[in-house]
Amino acid sequence: MFSSARSIVKKVNSPFIMSLVRNKVTLPELKYKFTELEPFISADLNTLHYTKHHQTYVNGINQALEQHAAAEAAGDLNKCVELQQNIKFHGGGYANHCLYWESLAPQSVGGGKLPAEDSALYKAVISQYGSFEKLIDLSNKALAGIQGSGWVFICKNLNNGALEIISVYNHERPAAHLKPLLALDAWEHAYYLQYQNVKVNFFSAIWNIINWEEAAKKFAA
Ligand SMILES: [Fe+2]
Repeated sequence: MFSSARSIVKKVNSPFIMSLVRNKVTLPELKYKFTELEPFISADLNTLHYTKHHQTYVNGINQALEQHAAAEAAGDLNKCVELQQNIKFHGGGYANHCLYWESLAPQSVGGGKLPAEDSALYKAVISQYGSFEKLIDLSNKALAGIQGSGWVFICKNLNNGALEIISVYNHERPAAHLKPLLALDAWEHAYYLQYQNVKVNFFSAIWNIINWEEAAKKFAA
């Protein structure tokens, strides 16, 4: 049974895994400077968030995939299974943070400005929630309800086109049928340097620099 499983792993995944190993993930290039998101998020806070915390997940997923490839090559099925948690945690952390940076924009380039009234996203928000204020209020309630570390995503349900606000713990990802439009980081590292224990002030401030235009593009795509 073991040799059978080993041969399947090697046959199906080796080229793919080796490709991933050669092409390590890196921090995404950002379209803004962190000083441009002030005063809502300080440059110091975002620099720490990006260069330390996000970088940790970059390093973590690269290492986990390397270890997974080595375990596959050795036919060590137990090690492959053991590594799944690291791949899920660091891979989720990496991907969620990439979406987080895309969810933000300086006010000088439209951050915080609602999407155009003729956009599909604008119409969907008004149809489902009545107003953006209501969507934001519900999102803030979801953020405040996270006990510990997690994320809130505003998603498009690909089955019916509806908007959904979901919260997850740690670095879980939205289910496959939920396309995340905006990612809001509720980990303590996302706000503590500037907002200390008053996380509701961070959740309130962040809407001033939300990139609704990018969310509208994702919704329409
Ligand atoms: Fe974070």
